[in-house]
Amino acid sequence: MELLIRWKIISNKPKNIFGCGQLFWVTKQPPAPLGAFLKNRLKIIMSKKLFIPVIVGTARKGRTSGKVADFVVKAIESEYGDQVETTLIDPCDFGFVPGAEQVMTREDYQNLIQKADGIYIVTPEYNHSFPGELKMLLDMELGNYKHKAVGMSAISSGPWGGTRVIESLLSILRKVGLVIADTDYLVNFSGEEFPKEGGVKDPEAQLRRFQRSFDEVVWLAKVLREGRGG
Ligand SMILES: Cc1cc2nc3c(=O)[nH]c(=O)nc-3n(C[C@H](O)[C@H](O)[C@H](O)COP(=O)(O)O)c2cc1C
Repeated sequence: MELLIRWKIISNKPKNIFGCGQLFWVTKQPPAPLGAFLKNRLKIIMSKKLFIPVIVGTARKGRTSGKVADFVVKAIESEYGDQVETTLIDPCDFGFVPGAEQVMTREDYQNLIQKADGIYIVTPEYNHSFPGELKMLLDMELGNYKHKAVGMSAISSGPWGGTRVIESLLSILRKVGLVIADTDYLVNFSGEEFPKEGGVKDPEAQLRRFQRSFDEVVWLAKVLREGRGG
């Protein structure tokens, strides 16, 4: 206990590397050298798990995107669980759709985004664009996306795997300050790949495609976390 006697800030001393007054820890031992301090800090930064929630972009009943989002959450847990934590953010929980019970609030969403190091969006393509629910979710927060990573999976029943929904999302994601990973996970012919009856037609191929996208998100999220100061 004696080691933690008091912190003393002497503000009229020259500024230190943190831009503030000299900080003295009054102890029986001299303070650790800066090199050791930075090394420890780096160790903490490297060991702390990233938090990257998965956002599903639609509340449509019978949506295939929900199946893909579940697949993505499981893949993050099994393949990246040592470095990433995740949770599913589902527009069905926010009461956007008439009759749906609201179990999540704007504040819940804001808290999740504040805590997040990045987000992973799983969205269908509706009329060459994104569903309104996704925009409503994204618009519930403003400041806390900045300098965080974002990756995308797009789903369509046609051959193009939702490339157009990704194009239409880019300017919004950039506007809110998210840093966009350059590799997407596209699911084309969604009804065949993730059939109504359940399961995945070729889980290994889907996993490979997802990982190519998510590896980028993890890399970006790590670098950006350091840039934000951990
Ligand atoms: C309102 C609506 C609009 C759609 N527009 C497109 C489209 O523009 N391009 C496309 O490839 N698929 C389109 N689809 C098909 C979806 O891509 C398909 O349903 C896919 O499974 C993903 O959506 P889901 O998660 O709602 O199932 C549309 C589906 C709906 C319900």
